[in-house]
Amino acid sequence: MPELYLPPRQAPDSLMLTGFWYRALPGDRVHRNRLHQATLLEIPLVIGRDRAGHAFALRDSCPHRGMPLHCGHFDGENIECSYHGWQFDAHDGQCELIPSLTSDQDLKVERIYAGSYPCEELDGFIWVYIPDPRPPGAGFGKREAVPDAAPQIEKFSDQYKLAYLTADMPVSIDHGIIGLMDPAHGPFVHQAWWWRSRHSIHEKKKNFEPIPNGFRMSAHTPSSNSAPYKLLRLYADTDSITTTIDFVLPNLRREVIRAGKYWFSSLTTVTPITRNQCRIDVVAAWNIFRWLPFGAELLKFVFSKFVEQDRRTMELQAEGLKHNPHLMLIDDADRPAKWYFQLKAAHLEAKRTGEEMSHPMSGPVTLKWRS
Ligand code: FES
Ligand SMILES: [Fe+2]
Repeated sequence: MPELYLPPRQAPDSLMLTGFWYRALPGDRVHRNRLHQATLLEIPLVIGRDRAGHAFALRDSCPHRGMPLHCGHFDGENIECSYHGWQFDAHDGQCELIPSLTSDQDLKVERIYAGSYPCEELDGFIWVYIPDPRPPGAGFGKREAVPDAAPQIEKFSDQYKLAYLTADMPVSIDHGIIGLMDPAHGPFVHQAWWWRSRHSIHEKKKNFEPIPNGFRMSAHTPSSNSAPYKLLRLYADTDSITTTIDFVLPNLRREVIRAGKYWFSSLTTVTPITRNQCRIDVVAAWNIFRWLPFGAELLKFVFSKFVEQDRRTMELQAEGLKHNPHLMLIDDADRPAKWYFQLKAAHLEAKRTGEEMSHPMSGPVTLKWRS
C-alpha cells in the first residue's frame, strides 16, 4: 500500500516559510519601558514600545559584536547596547551614535543598521513581518517595504469583545498545523461530559473549495461540534446559522459564524518558533453574549480546555516523533493535511520559478469522515 505512506511532498519537513507576517507577542504583555524577547522562525527578536506606545521589533543582536540588544538600555526612542554603548533607532535600527569615535574619525555611523522588522499591533497582538533571508554575510541596511498588511480578524459590527489564548506546542510547525485542522481527533482528545464522548461519533460530510493560498470549508452545519457554535445554538435558530472555516498559508485558520445580527469570528495562528517548537494563538472577536454575564469567561473556559487538550496531546506525540517514525496520511480525514503540504510545496515552487502559484485543488471537493 505505498500510497498510504507520505510521498515526499506530504512529509513534515518543518520548513518555516519566510515572507509572511507572524504573531510575536500579545500586546498586553509588552510594556513601555521594558525590552521583551521573542523568537520567530529561529530569529531572536527584541520587542518593545516607543514613548508613543508604537511597537517595534529588532533583531536581538548588536551589529557590532553580537551582544543581545534586550540587555541594553531603552530611553523610549533609541536602544543603547550594553557592551560599547552604540545607539540604534528602535524602529528602523539605524545607528545613531558610536561613543568610541573621536572627532576626527569619519566613520559613517548612519550607514550602520541593526536588523529591524516591520511591526504592527492588531486585534491585541504584535505582528512581525519576517522577510526572505538576505544573502549570507550581507548584513542589515534600510529595510524594504512590506508587500501586504498583517492579517486581521473579520468583524461585522462596531461593538464587539476580543479575547486571546496562547499555548506552546513542542512540535514542528507542520505537526502543529495539521493537528489544528485534523477533524478525526475530536472524539478522542476533546472528551468532556459537558461536550461529547467517543460514543457520539457519526459520519460527517463537508464541502471544501479552493481559495487563494488555501481552502475553505463552507457549511450550514446543524451538527457542528465547534464550541461557539454550540453556545450560539442556545439562542439562535439552527437553520439561520452559517459557518465558514478557512485555512490560508502560512498558518492562518479563520472561523466565522454568523446568525442574523450575531457573529463570532476567530483567527487562530500556529507560529514557528524553532524547528521543533511552535505556538498556537487563538484570538476571537464576537458580539454575542455581550449582555450575558460570564459569556466571555465561558467562551475562554471552553477554548482553554480545548487548547490544553491539544497541547497535552502534542507533547505526548513529540515523544513518539523523536525516533523519526514512518508516518501516513489517509483519505478523507487527513485530506486537509495533504492540501496543506501541497499548498506549501506549490508556494515554494512559485517562489522559485517566479511564476503564479498553481493551486493543488482544481475545484470544490466533498470529504467524508466519522468523528
Ligand atoms: S556589541 Fe554592541 S556596542 Fe559593541
Ligand atoms: Fe484539537
